[in-house]
Amino acid sequence: MNLFDVYPINEITIVKAKGSYVWDDKGEQYLDMYGGHAVISIGHTHPHWVKRIEEQLEKLAFYSNSVRIPIQQQLAQKLGKLSGKEDYQLFLCNSGAEANENALKLASFHTGRKKVVAFTKSFHGRTSLAVAVTDNKNYVAPVNETDNVIFLPFNDTKALKACFAGEGKEIAAVIVEGIQGVGGINVADESFLKAIRTLCDEYGAVYIADSVQCGYGRSGKFFSHDFAGVNADIYTMAKGMGNGFPVAGIIVAPHIKPKHFQLGTTFGGNHLACAAALAVLEIIEEEKLMGNAVMVGKYLRDALEEIPQISNVRGRGLMIGFDVPEELKDLKRNLLWNQKIFTGEAKPNVIRLLPSLALKKRDAEDFIEALKEEIALLTEAEAANA
Ligand SMILES: Cc1ncc(COP(=O)(O)O)c(C=O)c1O
Repeated sequence: MNLFDVYPINEITIVKAKGSYVWDDKGEQYLDMYGGHAVISIGHTHPHWVKRIEEQLEKLAFYSNSVRIPIQQQLAQKLGKLSGKEDYQLFLCNSGAEANENALKLASFHTGRKKVVAFTKSFHGRTSLAVAVTDNKNYVAPVNETDNVIFLPFNDTKALKACFAGEGKEIAAVIVEGIQGVGGINVADESFLKAIRTLCDEYGAVYIADSVQCGYGRSGKFFSHDFAGVNADIYTMAKGMGNGFPVAGIIVAPHIKPKHFQLGTTFGGNHLACAAALAVLEIIEEEKLMGNAVMVGKYLRDALEEIPQISNVRGRGLMIGFDVPEELKDLKRNLLWNQKIFTGEAKPNVIRLLPSLALKKRDAEDFIEALKEEIALLTEAEAANA
C-alpha cells in the first residue's frame, strides 16, 4: 500500500530530536526554527515531559471518559493558573480542528443561532465547520459549503460593526486568531479584538479566540488575544499544548453552561495526553518560557529589522513573520539545504518562525548569521545573472 500523498515534503528523515535541534538518518543536525509547525513548545524530548509520559504509560494509558480521571482536573487547575482564566471550564479533545469544531458547535447550542463571522486569511482547520470558517476555497469540499459563514476583512472594525448592525441577532459566534498563522503572521489589532468583545456582548454572540497556533505562551502572553485586555468566551488550543503529543482543548467562560452529550470524545483527555500536557505547563512555568519568548523574540525581530533585503517584520514573542522579495524566493530552501535550518512559510512570500519557546539566544544569533549569509549569496548570484 502507498501513502495517500497529501503534502509536498522535504526529502529528509528525522530520527532524533533534542531541545531546538533535530537530526536526520545520516547524522546531520538541523536547527528547528519551525517547531514542527508551532507544535514544539518546551523543546523536543524535554526530559521532564518524557519522564511524565513514561511514568503514566507504566500505570495507565487510557480509560474512557465514563469514569473519574483526576489528572484531567490537575491539568485544568494548572491551565487555569497559567492562563489566568481560573473560572473557565476545560473540555479536552485531540486536535486544533476538533477544538474549533466544538467551540463553534457550543456557541450555536448556547445562542440557538446559526451564523458565524470569520475573517479573510483565516485558518481554523480542515473538518466540516472549522474548514467552513477557513478563508481558502481549496480546502473547502462541496459538502462543507454553507451560507452560515460571513467572511469579513481582518482588522476592519467598521465592516464588523456594519455586519452586526444588519445581522447581529442571527450571529452565534465570531471566530478569530490573535495572530493569523497560516495567513502569514498577521497580528489582530487590539482595538479590533476589543470591538469583537463589545459587539458580541451587545448582540449576545460568542467570541471564540482561536489560540491553536498563537496560544500557549508563544506570543509572550498565554493567549495572544490577551494583549487586547478583554476576555474571549471560548479559547481553543492544540499545537503547543502537548509539545508533540496529540492533545487539544477548549476553555469555556462560566456563563456558558454545559449540558451532557452536547460535546463528547473517545480519546480526548486520556491519561497519557494529560500527562504530556501537564508536563508542558510545568516546564513553561518552571523555566519561565513566556519570558524567554519575549526576550528571544525581541532579539530576533530587532535583528531582522536591520536586514535591508527583507521587509515587514511582524509578530509577537516567538511567532514571527517577514516578507521575502521575489529575487530571494529560494531563501527558505537554501536555509534548509545549505544551513540546515528549518523555517516555516506562508504563501506566497512569507517566512514564518515558530521555534520552541525555549529557543536560546545563541541559537537565534546563529539563525540571523545564517540568514544574512544566504541572503548575501542569493543577492550576489542575482547580480551576476543581471
Ligand atoms: C489557527 C489554527 N487553527 C486550527 C488549526 C488546525 O489544527 P489541527 O491541524 O491540529 O487540526 C491550525 C493548524 O495549523 C491553526 O493554525
